[in-house]
Amino acid sequence: MKTELKNRLNHINWDFGTRLVVNNDEVFPFNNRKYHSYPATFIPEIPFTLIEILSSEGAVVMDPFGGVGTTLVQALIQKRIPISIDNNSVASQITRDFFVLFNPLVDIKRSRDRISQVVRTYDENMDYGSSLSSFSRNLEPWYEKKTLNQVAFLLKQYEEAKKSQGTPGVIELFHLCLSNLLTTVCSQNGGWAYIADNVRPKADKMKEKNAIERFLQNINICEKSIRNYKEKLGDSISFIYQWKKIDNVICTDYAMADMSKMIESVDLIITSPPYPKMIDYVKSQRLSFYMEEREFTSELATEIGARARRNQSNTICSYIDSMKKCNTQMVSSLKKGGYLCYVLPDFSKEKDRDRKEAVDEVLYNCISRGMKEEYRIKRCIPGTQRSNNIKWASLRQEQIIILEKL
Ligand SMILES: C[S@@+](CC[C@H](N)C(=O)[O-])C[C@H]1O[C@@H](n2cnc3c(N)ncnc32)[C@H](O)[C@@H]1O
Repeated sequence: MKTELKNRLNHINWDFGTRLVVNNDEVFPFNNRKYHSYPATFIPEIPFTLIEILSSEGAVVMDPFGGVGTTLVQALIQKRIPISIDNNSVASQITRDFFVLFNPLVDIKRSRDRISQVVRTYDENMDYGSSLSSFSRNLEPWYEKKTLNQVAFLLKQYEEAKKSQGTPGVIELFHLCLSNLLTTVCSQNGGWAYIADNVRPKADKMKEKNAIERFLQNINICEKSIRNYKEKLGDSISFIYQWKKIDNVICTDYAMADMSKMIESVDLIITSPPYPKMIDYVKSQRLSFYMEEREFTSELATEIGARARRNQSNTICSYIDSMKKCNTQMVSSLKKGGYLCYVLPDFSKEKDRDRKEAVDEVLYNCISRGMKEEYRIKRCIPGTQRSNNIKWASLRQEQIIILEKL
């Protein structure tokens, strides 16, 4: 790695205080996590800064564990071609929603107006619950009665929008905000882990929350924020939408995916892989799976490191095995001289040695495949950015390891 790049990396305050300054200019990464409560997402400053320093405009930037598309959006707003992969179909759909909404051809204000118009027809004297399908009735125990009626109405309107395929961007903005709303207006306030473990709210904890009002607020905030970025970008990112080599958003098990089209095509990989036995990404989205009327058993089976499998004897071995396959994929997709930025937990004070050793082994394996460690950053995670105060899922420190393909 050139000294100039190292110098630039040295000048960043990786704990990210209040302002992010790159090349003496204050910059504003787009904050995906503000619009969806998916667990363990990046703070946007990490991928934004790495993309800015380690790649140029037009570069291909990939995140093979892309979650809800934080890396994808930071690449887009910096005029790089993004590829985001995730095996979780809810997360992939959210990423696709962002990708479509940032398209210069999509008039997001028009999409927002169309949705608001329909949502304002809500009539509290009507019973919308009867329109829930037998599958989406799984939502019933999670909401207070009036809130459930509003959620059922929104679901009905979302289904109608999908059928009519009208104004571009309507389905995506609807999906993004509705998927998030399902968690925020449910009466289980314990965070994603309670939803993942199917702990339904007790009868005395049921709380009325105005889903219609919150939904309208959310689509307004989301529309305004994306429109601001789009106004600054103009048509300058149109070329990204004309790129046809591979889909920009792919929902697949990365360990087993066919990535032959991408051999030596990627300039930069930035990713935070699932950590062993820590989070249940698929199960945490059960409410969205109910909304989409989809089972999640097959996605759960391919999820790497799922906490749900923490008591199985082969958990750590199968984690390492899958991550080694992912390393092979990443190394073969990277161009020579390209960088892989791995954001990993700093498990140096970890009591569970298996977990620490597993993460170390994944890293050594990557190096043994022809990657050279060039830079390492340790950063503290402020309390406000930790995972919902869930102790066993709450990291205090993480590290960013930058490896170069020789
Ligand atoms: C730490 S999260 C990444 C979050 C992402 N950086 C963001 O900001 O949204 C790890 C991701 O890996 C995904 N994942 C787990 N197993 C996978 C697999 N077999 N193939 C692809 N993605 C997988 C999970 O669904 C989860 O979204």
